[in-house]
Amino acid sequence: MLEKIIETTEFLKAKGINNPDAGIILGTGLGELTAKIENRIEIDYKDIPNFPISTVEGHAGKLIYGVFGGKKIIAMKGRSHYYEGYSREQVALPVRVLKYLGIKCLFLSNAAGGVNPAFHIGDIMVITDHISLLSNPLIGPNDNRIGARFPDMGEAYDKSLINKALLFAKENNIRIHKGVYLSTSGPTFETPAEYKYFRIIGADAVGMSTTPEVIVARHMNLPCFAVSVITDLGVEGKIEYTTHESVQNEAAKTESRMTTIMTELISTL
Ligand code: HPA
Repeated sequence: MLEKIIETTEFLKAKGINNPDAGIILGTGLGELTAKIENRIEIDYKDIPNFPISTVEGHAGKLIYGVFGGKKIIAMKGRSHYYEGYSREQVALPVRVLKYLGIKCLFLSNAAGGVNPAFHIGDIMVITDHISLLSNPLIGPNDNRIGARFPDMGEAYDKSLINKALLFAKENNIRIHKGVYLSTSGPTFETPAEYKYFRIIGADAVGMSTTPEVIVARHMNLPCFAVSVITDLGVEGKIEYTTHESVQNEAAKTESRMTTIMTELISTL
């Protein structure tokens, strides 16, 4: 496992990626932030040894390194999900490589269904905690050189970054919520009964990603900050027919606000 991580890390260093300050993983329909990265080096996942290739429409499958918000960042435009058939190790590898490349902090975004009745389509939710109903990516032999066997998850999402984001949004009149993100395997969207159940057990938004990456990052003590863009509602009376295209379209409409928040947080790292 570590050998593969080091092989991929060395490959990327040789391409000119060195000491990024932060990593960012961009969710469905949220890849345009990368257009703002300057002095960039772009590499397709398919050309990177050991990297899982993103097979989903709207997930470009590119690693982009450069300057954003005055900091050196490395962005993943497109991520891999369990529903594509990837193993735990494959889903974990990119985050581990980002850490071995030197990132100090991991930023993540996703498209999600809102189950909190106060949410509207197009809202942004800062994730304060999660409920992971996905397979834990750390199942299997543990390599103590990477992280501890039993990582603590008491503060999976960095409190100071959450507070900074909420304050910045308030000062700039950006409608924002905080809440709990629940991950399911997908690829089906939820039935009305499932949305209701997820609300009852404490979720504010539901999606198919993010928690495996956050678990892998926390295993290595990497601080995480994540946001959900609400692209549809799983609230009784407000549930509409949802497709991947409708999720992509709604995500794209909110993307510039999300980018503003990410830029602010990264620039003040
Ligand atoms: N459920 C699960 N994943 C999602 C949703 C949803 O409603 N919207 C966007 N991703």
